[in-house]
Parts: sequence; structure tokens; C-alpha cells
Amino acid sequence: MSVATSSSRAISLNLLQQLRYYNEPMTMGGWIREHYGDFVPVRFQGHEYIGIATAEGARQIFANDPANYDAFFKEGFTSIAGPASLWVLAGAVHRRERKLFAPAVHATHVREHGNTVLEITRLHLAKWQPGQTVKSIDTTMAISRDVIMRLVFGIEEDKLMEEGQEILDELRISLNPLITFIPALQKRWYPPWRRFSRAKERFTEWVNRVLAARRALNVDSGDVVSIMLATRYEDGSPMQDDEIRDELMTIMQGGHETTATVLAWALYELGRHPEVLAKLRAELEDSGSDLNPNLVVKLPYLSAVCDETVRLHPILAECARVPLIPMEILGHKVLPGQALVISIVSIHHDPDLYPEPDKFIPERFIERTYNRYEFLPFGGAHRRCLGAALSEYETRIALAELVLHWEFQPVVIERDTRHDVAMGPKYGVPLRILARRDPKWAASATNE
Ligand code: HEM
Repeated sequence: MSVATSSSRAISLNLLQQLRYYNEPMTMGGWIREHYGDFVPVRFQGHEYIGIATAEGARQIFANDPANYDAFFKEGFTSIAGPASLWVLAGAVHRRERKLFAPAVHATHVREHGNTVLEITRLHLAKWQPGQTVKSIDTTMAISRDVIMRLVFGIEEDKLMEEGQEILDELRISLNPLITFIPALQKRWYPPWRRFSRAKERFTEWVNRVLAARRALNVDSGDVVSIMLATRYEDGSPMQDDEIRDELMTIMQGGHETTATVLAWALYELGRHPEVLAKLRAELEDSGSDLNPNLVVKLPYLSAVCDETVRLHPILAECARVPLIPMEILGHKVLPGQALVISIVSIHHDPDLYPEPDKFIPERFIERTYNRYEFLPFGGAHRRCLGAALSEYETRIALAELVLHWEFQPVVIERDTRHDVAMGPKYGVPLRILARRDPKWAASATNE
């Protein structure tokens, strides 16, 4: 087979198409694939990208040696997350940093904190009142923010916690898509950048106080901050505070809104599919006489519901790699610097893998096992999301608690839209809270 070069047939999207792709990668991704196929060189804002829309394409990209790739869009992400962030590191330094704090977010470590996740969820759900309409993303954001505070930052002290909650909210709100994707706007004269920079300065100042408090306490609580403080590089030197801050910023930006969004989408889909909700409740109620986090997370239907949610509504529409050497992907030659953008959205909506791809059908994850190129909400290979285990664990526990104790109903038809880097429901999943409910075990205990 002859190998075609990609540049020769790069398509240019007009401004309207670019905006549509940005806002609605679901519909626009499908359109691009239909018109141009599975390997699509695109010129976009002066850069050339190659869109890859199949599981086989993802497999070939992930199979390459990590040393052959640079990080994606460093010119935009460096000022957002910081030069020591995992997002912009590559090669040996990237590998070293990942190894460093992977244990703190590894499944075995995370599993020790099931009751903390449950406690945080209950605390926020206790604010719900029957009859009220709540924007569910507000509740799920608060849950995932506080899980990060406790499990990543290791914060117990009330004042630091309250300040941190406020600062994390401010950072998230001030991260505007224009400043993320147009590096030329990352300048003091641009008010949204000034606002983000102020929030980042407050974050830095707060992280410095967190580090000072933790050093004074001198206790290893096994969270990410403890691990970073204890780290010594090969030459015996510790991690610098600004390196720690950049990684914490990355975790915060990568882990807060993403997990909250999956949970909000799950509530939306369950509210619209009463038969799925009933089946899920039956599984949870048959599993024991109370919520045991480490048993709950193993329940197959609960897992299927969570997987189907993030399949249908991927939080990151794409993940990307920048080749440093010429390579061949799907029979086409790719040049160094031409970013390979794997469309998670397109793969998750491929009708050959997922019949009736626009429908919410958790059973597909019971009936079939998908490999890591077919189902890739967390990306893959050497850059696979470090927080995947934490996020999956948290979503399952919080969702179980929620559906066992509350009756709810979505009040609007939602749409997937891009918020900044991540996607989410356009309206934040407003829910009418119908009533509190007792799980079967509580009801039978009352009757005895
Ligand atoms: C549902 C929730 C989440 C989703 C869907 C998600 C998705 C992703 C994706 C697609 C990537 C890029 C992977 C690639 O390029 O192959 C990524 C990277 C990353 N995520 Fe997540 N993420 C989630 C939650 C979290 C959480 C909770 C944390 C931290 C506690 C986290 C930390 C990170 C980090 C540090 C990276 C960069 C990894 C690297 O470049 O080496 N994420 N995530």
C-alpha cells in the first residue's frame, strides 16, 4: 500500500465551522467523519492537526514509543497550569513525575477513603429539600471539590478548607475558554486573563500556607501533598514549592469539574430512564444492608451505568499527541509537529462498536467487553488520566448514595457543550427534587 502524506489534503474549516467544532464536538465530529473519513488533516488557527476517528487509529498512536511524542498545545497550557505541570511535560521528566504521585491516586490507596467520599456526599445532599429545583452540577461540583481537598490536598482544618473551597471555585469560574485556547489573549491587558491571574495568585498563596501547615505537622497522611513533600529526586533534592503548586493546579483543573460532570450526567440519564434507575436501585438494595463503599464499587450494573454515562457524554472530546519523528498512522504519513488528535467522541459514537450510539443503554457494558481503544474516556497509554481510579470510585459511591436516598426528575432537555477544555451539560442538569426515599433495608427495619 502506498503511504499518502497528510499535508497534501488538509481541509480548512471556516470560522463558523471552527466555532461549531469548538462548541459542539459531538455533532461536528460526526459531520467531519462522515465527509472526510477516519484520518482527517485539518488546518486550524494556523496549525495543522490530524483528526483520528477510529479505535484502530487510537491503538496505533498509543502503541508508539512515548519518547516519540511531545505534549500537546504547550503554548496554551503552560501559562494556565504552570511549566512544571504534567500536561506540558514530556519525555523522561514526564515519566518521573507521573511515577511520583501515581501511588497517591492509585486504586488501592483510594479505596481506603470510601467513607470519606460517602461522608462528603451526604453532607452536600443534606442541603437538598423535597420540592426544590437544584442545578445538580452545583452539588456535584461541591462534592468533587471537597473530595480533592481531602484526598489530594489532605486538608482537615476548617479555615484552610473554607478558603480553599472559595479559591478553587474562583479558579474554575475564571478559566475562560478564550484564554485557554488563544495564547495571544494570555496578557495583562485582557480582563479575563487578569481575573484568572488574580485567582492563580490567590491559589499560590493558599498552597504556600497549606505546605507550611503540612511541614509543621510533619505527618505522612498518604495524600498527594504528603507524597510530594517527601519526594527526593535522584540527586537528593526535594520538589520545589512551585513544582508542587503546578501539579496541584493540574490535578485541580483536571479532576474537579470532570468528575462532577459525569455524576451530573448520570443523574440526568437515570432521571430520563426510570427502568434503568429501578434496575440500579434493585442491584444496590440487594447488595447488602447498608452502603459499603468497597462493595458498592464492584457492582456490575452500577459500573455499567457509569461507563455508559461517560461513553455517551465524554468529558474530554479529544486527547492528543505531538509526534517528534515521522510516523505512519492508518496508512498515512504523519510529519513531526502535526498533532494527532484522537476523537474520543467519534470512537464512543461509532455505530459499529456501539449500536444506536446516541441511546443510553448500560446493558452494552454487561454484554460486551470493550478494549482500551474502543472505550477511552480517560485517554490512554503514557498519558492516561492519573485520576481515573479516584474519579471512578467517587462517581460510583456518590451515585449509589444519591439514587438510594432521593427521588428526582430532570426539568430540561440537556445538550453536550464544551465549557473550557472539558465538555458538560449546557444547563448544568437542573433537577426537581421530588422526595427523600428510604432504601429497601431501611424500610424493612422500620417495619420490624
Ligand atoms: C471523569 C473524570 C475524568 C476524566 C473523564 C478525565 C479525563 C482525562 C483525559 C482524557 C486525560 C488525557 C489523557 C491522554 O492524553 O491520554 C486526562 C489527563 C489527566 N488527568 Fe484526568 N480525567 C478525570 C478526572 C481526573 C482526576 C480526578 C484527576 C486527579 C485527581 C485527574 C488528573 C489528570 C492528570 C494529572 C492528567 C495528565 C496526565 C498526563 O499528561 O500524564 N483527572 N484526564
